[in-house]
Amino acid sequence: NNTSSPSSSSFSAKNNPSGTPSSAKLKGYPQCLTITVLGASGDLARKKTYPALFSLWKAGHVPFNTKILGYARSKLELDEFKGKIRLFLKDSSNEKIEHFLSICDYVQGEYSSIEEGPPCFSGLNEVIEQLEREVEVNWKENAFITPSTSAAENKKYKRVVGNRIFYLALPPVVYPSVCAEIKASAMSSTKGSWTRVVVEKPFGKDLESSEKLNQSLSALFSEEQLYRIDHYLGKELVQNLVVMRFANRFISPLWNRDNIANVQIIFKEPFGTEGRGGYFDDYGIIRDVIQNHLLQIMCLVAMEKPCSLSPDDIRDEKLKVLRCIAPVSTDNVVVGQYSTGPHGQPAYVDDPGVPENSMAPTFCTCVMYVKNERWDGVPFIIKAGKALNEAKCEIRVQFKDVPGDLFESRRVQGKQARNEFVVRLQPDPTIFMKMTVKEPGLDMNLAQSELELLYTTRYQRVAIPEAYERLILDCINGDQQHFVRRDELVAAWTIFTPLLKYIDAGGMKPYPYPYGSVGPYEANALRERVGHQTN
Ligand code: NDP
Ligand code: BG6
Repeated sequence: NNTSSPSSSSFSAKNNPSGTPSSAKLKGYPQCLTITVLGASGDLARKKTYPALFSLWKAGHVPFNTKILGYARSKLELDEFKGKIRLFLKDSSNEKIEHFLSICDYVQGEYSSIEEGPPCFSGLNEVIEQLEREVEVNWKENAFITPSTSAAENKKYKRVVGNRIFYLALPPVVYPSVCAEIKASAMSSTKGSWTRVVVEKPFGKDLESSEKLNQSLSALFSEEQLYRIDHYLGKELVQNLVVMRFANRFISPLWNRDNIANVQIIFKEPFGTEGRGGYFDDYGIIRDVIQNHLLQIMCLVAMEKPCSLSPDDIRDEKLKVLRCIAPVSTDNVVVGQYSTGPHGQPAYVDDPGVPENSMAPTFCTCVMYVKNERWDGVPFIIKAGKALNEAKCEIRVQFKDVPGDLFESRRVQGKQARNEFVVRLQPDPTIFMKMTVKEPGLDMNLAQSELELLYTTRYQRVAIPEAYERLILDCINGDQQHFVRRDELVAAWTIFTPLLKYIDAGGMKPYPYPYGSVGPYEANALRERVGHQTN
């Protein structure tokens, strides 16, 4: 028994208060959307996917006639499943939460068919088709079939456009079989409808495995149907990069090797792998956040102005950046692994699932260069680590020294403080510029100060959407700008695969650093060696 029927009430126009049916009306056919979250019993689904769907639904961004189906192997009663989801839905109104949950159902089933047995997603497909039929019936009953409707018109409305999103909140090992099952049994088949498949990182472990995965997925779906999510592309200040760079006159003339000394992209988490050690040990920090999230940010910082805002024009520019980056040289890398902390915090190897002698890096600083006319010689210093002293993710663009230093004789010690342009993604999204000013007072002393745009103060009334909200909405709307294209992925893995192979083969022993520290000292030495200056 692969699937069980959903047991909640039927779904119709009446139980979804958000959205309006107007566009569907105008097109002349009832439309509906089924979002199936595969792996709905898991961590990502509960903590990110459902809360994002809830926020979109509350704000009326989920189309009229949307149903959300959770699918997983776990045998869960519908109420039990909803109880797990409810824990992560935040709203002052319980009624709203319950209302949202009334468009959610749960289907239990496997991820691959057994030999001789029925296709494992055929049951899921039946559930979706049933929902689509209900929309059609409802539409006819409630909206269009009135006594004055002619027989011809009645006939015209006998069709539903059933769109489908499959969100794979699953470990990548099951992607190929799940995708094959979707293709075999659960694609939307109504005229004019679409099917989209959202896949989560990691997309492979290196160039070869990623391409193998890509090949198996692209044999089933077109690139337009595949949405490779990198949730950092949904963060407010990452999305702001394109606007900031290309809508401000004062930034563009400075944004090049003539003025910029180095760019740092920093990701720091104050907690360790905590229970995810099993997954993490196979991947390490480079595959976990650098090859994807931080490299994507680097592309947006470095790319040329796209010829339009169309998703492919932007992705074409990002791809050009990736193709100008040589594979990372082992001389430009420092890796670390956290050891026990001063307050009794555990070492990485204490995490369940991590072998005692693990060499997996939980910290890495690496330096890359973009070999093109704009950036030749400018180091991009990427630093990422778990179990560090703080939570922070920021981009720091450090400018070169001012030539002909007028204030040399006034400096008691050290060099000029450099200008820095900082984009802090989290916590507390902020954009600030570090400037040298005259320290107020009778003396002519210099001081570093900030021109600062703190989002929580400036945009107090605006709730900044979660990355997943934005990206799911983009997927609903068919906008692939903030999703990773296959050729970007190939180029990204090309940059890191030789280094990863070297590390996997034991070529680089991680330096230990205490839990809660700033990371290994050697990383600071590398940063200074390539020209970063601490103000
Ligand atoms: P989980 O380990 O929680 O797995 C999700 C669900 O998949 C489980 O509840 C389980 O459901 C099913 N599952 C687990 N292992 C297997 C297996 N070996 N074979 C078949 N089914 C399995 O993963 P997450 O929810 O944490 O992550 C899902 C995906 O999202 C992964 O690709 C992950 O890398 C990615 N991701 C996760 C993030 C997070 O914050 N958690 C952040 C960014 C990306 P059941 O047994 O009921 O079928
Ligand atoms: C995930 C990584 O992709 O991103 C995690 O697998 C990391 O290890 C997480 O903690 C960070 O995301 P965020 O949005 O919390 O900064």
